[in-house]
Amino acid sequence: MPSVRYLNGIKIILAKDKKTGGRIVASLIQEFLKSKKNGVLGLATGETMIPVYKNLIGIYRKNKIDFSGVKTFNLDEYFDNEIKDRERLRNFMDKNFFNHVSIQGKNINFLDGKTTNVSDECRRYEEEIKKAGGIDLQILGIGRNGHVGFNEPGSSMRSRTRRVKLKESTKKDNNQFFKLSKVPEYALTIGVANILEARKIILVAFGKNKSAAVKLALEGKIGNKIPASFLRKHNNVIFVVDESAASKLQDVNMSRFALRKLPTLVREKTKANLEH
Ligand code: GLP
Repeated sequence: MPSVRYLNGIKIILAKDKKTGGRIVASLIQEFLKSKKNGVLGLATGETMIPVYKNLIGIYRKNKIDFSGVKTFNLDEYFDNEIKDRERLRNFMDKNFFNHVSIQGKNINFLDGKTTNVSDECRRYEEEIKKAGGIDLQILGIGRNGHVGFNEPGSSMRSRTRRVKLKESTKKDNNQFFKLSKVPEYALTIGVANILEARKIILVAFGKNKSAAVKLALEGKIGNKIPASFLRKHNNVIFVVDESAASKLQDVNMSRFALRKLPTLVREKTKANLEH
């Protein structure tokens, strides 16, 4: 059974493994979309998101979720002219999520990693987010080095949409999962400030290789060494982690709850979190 606790003001939902974790995150998104059919979602790519999107597609196939009015903004995209289109993060999203649900093409937003004018492109993206009314629910993964989006260590809390140089460890991690023909040196990403402007945030982390980053994000000093630690400055954040990702946290005793009770529990325990 999953369990819940608070650490430094952040609500943490602990799932046994990534399979249950994926179900939990998908249920939280479903709950949110019940209350706001035209909601604006901030989305992430990466291995962590696969069980999340799989479960969302499952819920959609049971006619329990409608994406036709939903708008999405992905966090980031590789900035590179040489990688193949099938290696772009946009393709990951098409393959693992967009192609399987009723989301409308015109409602999908992505940074253009082939742009010849970075500042115009970053400005355009921020304007689109603003026009959509801002991001209601931002889903995040976390890098092993504590990055969120592609906001690598060193990114300031005030950083906005921009081009970033990827750290060696990030290039290695991304290459392992995405199996790229050439690892991009740069990416475009929304900034930490943009992420903190979202009304609600859910950070998802599965696996032992994320345990140090999760610990530093929740228990370490808030600062640009671990950009995910800035999330503690936001008043509406939930971390959904599996037991391995939570294994380095101070105190993993949590009160257990049945998964079917998740919607009620989230409503009860995060009143502030869930009010729109
Ligand atoms: C990538 C992405 C992030 C993602 C993170 C973790 O670099 N830019 O948005 O959350 O790294 O990826 P994974 O889930 O594959 O570990």
